[in-house]
Amino acid sequence: MPIEEFRVGKAKIVLIQGDITEMDTDAIVNAVNPSLMGGGGVDGAIHRKGGPKILEECKRIRATEYPNGLPTGKAVITSGGNLKAKYVIHTVGPIWRGGSSGEPQLLAEAYRNSLKLAVSKGLKTIAFPAISTGAYGYPIEEASKIALSTVKEFLEKEDNLDKVVFVLFSGHDFEIYGKAAEEII
Ligand code: APR
Repeated sequence: MPIEEFRVGKAKIVLIQGDITEMDTDAIVNAVNPSLMGGGGVDGAIHRKGGPKILEECKRIRATEYPNGLPTGKAVITSGGNLKAKYVIHTVGPIWRGGSSGEPQLLAEAYRNSLKLAVSKGLKTIAFPAISTGAYGYPIEEASKIALSTVKEFLEKEDNLDKVVFVLFSGHDFEIYGKAAEEII
């Protein structure tokens, strides 16, 4: 499986081509819609593989913390259910509307809030999909640069994370992230 590693301070950034539901990091990040009630893409894969416990916890979050749905850029955490990962961090990326409706800032927020939540729970390793680049239509070239620069910036300030993995579903996406990483890291 194609893999590339970079270092930022004492932490590692790893690019992997594969299926995020197979990752055994402390947490994997799910790209959700505000309902938190599941969907297609990586959301569908995580609920299928993780089992009903994850959806039950999402329903409890909707009933308590976010009755009107999870706002774009925010992140919440549930257990990993049947997944190898102990936790799932659910975050809503922006829908691409051409790039001048605050999409870059909101995408960065989704990564940053997911990292902050992982650190607040004392987690050491986390894996991200390419948030917003599927159904939400965010051009992957742009999204990869935001993802990598946001994570690099966070790791330069925070030294509580050991490893951040980007799990790219296709060879094409893996190549794009690799090019962006050469530029940014
Ligand atoms: N592992 C890793 N990456 C995956 C997997 C997987 N098993 N399945 C899909 N992906 C990739 C897609 O190829 C894409 O690059 O995740 C990226 C994000 O795509 P989506 O899952 O469509 O997420 P997003 O674009 O953020 O749209 C979110 O889609 O699934 C619904 O409920 C979700 O409404 C929400 C919307």
